[in-house]
Amino acid sequence: MKAGVLGSGDVAKALAAGFVEYGHEVVIGTRDASKLENWVAAHASARVGSFAEAASHGEVVVLAVKGTVAAKVLGAVGSEALAGKPVIDATNPIADGPATNGVISFFTGPNDSLMEQLQREFPDARLVKAFNSVGNQHMVDPRFEGGPPTMFICGNNGDAKRTVSQILDQFGWDVADMGAAEAARAIEPLCMLWVVAGVVSHGWDHAFKLVRN
Ligand SMILES: NC(=O)c1ccc[n+]([C@@H]2O[C@H](COP(=O)([O-])OP(=O)(O)OC[C@H]3O[C@@H](n4cnc5c(N)ncnc54)[C@H](OP(=O)(O)O)[C@@H]3O)[C@@H](O)[C@H]2O)c1
Repeated sequence: MKAGVLGSGDVAKALAAGFVEYGHEVVIGTRDASKLENWVAAHASARVGSFAEAASHGEVVVLAVKGTVAAKVLGAVGSEALAGKPVIDATNPIADGPATNGVISFFTGPNDSLMEQLQREFPDARLVKAFNSVGNQHMVDPRFEGGPPTMFICGNNGDAKRTVSQILDQFGWDVADMGAAEAARAIEPLCMLWVVAGVVSHGWDHAFKLVRN
């Protein structure tokens, strides 16, 4: 599969490395290719391009940029390059400013989510929330006692969620589909809980698991 990864941060690099590891054809996008020189030297099959080049390349697109600029980056890419494609939305709506006792602030309210805002602005993109509720170190091949952890996903397009579920399965996750885009109101705050759990335990090796009977 051709994967276009938007971002040059730790999440983009971790997920792009996962796509490379599992044999996908990767273009990783940034405004500044020099930020990815070392990464691409270590992942020779991948290419670096602009955000628009990465999105155009992708049969699946990964959005892994700062939440406050997510709409701006998709706008720079343009609706045409996204139309009909699964867009894995790994972003979180984290507001600028300090955390309070380890609790980060959001720029969205409880009855909205960043993914819904993006889906409204880019109706032809098939957004699927995923990978936002775990640290980048554990996004690919997570290894925890008790088996694969759970990745909560949601989105309005069933085909896109099936594609993303296959990728999550390949990357070593148990997938829990929480339904339509509105479920992002519940999934995005999991990142708050993930960070608080790290602050109180002084460690970052944890992930969520949904247990079922
Ligand atoms: N860090 C984690 O472990 C983690 C875990 C789960 C979810 N997330 C979420 O995943 C996303 C990426 O996180 P991250 O820590 O990898 O990186 P980040 O520092 O949040 O974002 C870096 C990316 O944002 C882009 N960016 C920043 N300001 C910009 C601007 N003014 N215009 C255009 N692009 C801009 C950068 O573009 P350039 O490449 O052009 O510089 C870069 O690609 C965030 O939404 C975060 O909340 C993070």
